[in-house]
Amino acid sequence: MNEIKKLIQMALDNKENSYSPYSHFRVSSVVKTKSGSIYKGVNIENAAYSPSLCAERSAMSAAISNGQRDFSYIVINGDSKDTFPCGVCRQFIREFADSDTKIVIANSIDDYKEYTIEELLPYSFSNEDLKDI
Ligand code: THU
Repeated sequence: MNEIKKLIQMALDNKENSYSPYSHFRVSSVVKTKSGSIYKGVNIENAAYSPSLCAERSAMSAAISNGQRDFSYIVINGDSKDTFPCGVCRQFIREFADSDTKIVIANSIDDYKEYTIEELLPYSFSNEDLKDI
């Protein structure tokens, strides 16, 4: 099984850990860092709704909290066909992704597509905008 398929299988297996009692929409994410570490995340909802956390931010936060900021893959699998990251997650990903970071939208190990953050969030605001201040 190739590298991406292994990550997708991990995401599929971990979706059962989604805490989504309000939407009943499960999302799972697995990220691989450029150093080769792998972190998992799921969406984590809250009775007050606003504090809910998306799966990809959950997975990336686990990596970042362990000193890993460079990502080779961000794999996302949700309960809809082609679950794309929400707007907030695209901005969050923008902070850490580079042009080599593959954002993998996965339905199954045989059905997935790869994108860059530039494709998902063109004309974005980033740390580049703050560099001359
Ligand atoms: N969700 C994610 O985890 N990632 C996304 O980018 C899309 C939305 C979650 C948030 C909420 O728990 C559920 O999906 C329904 O919106």
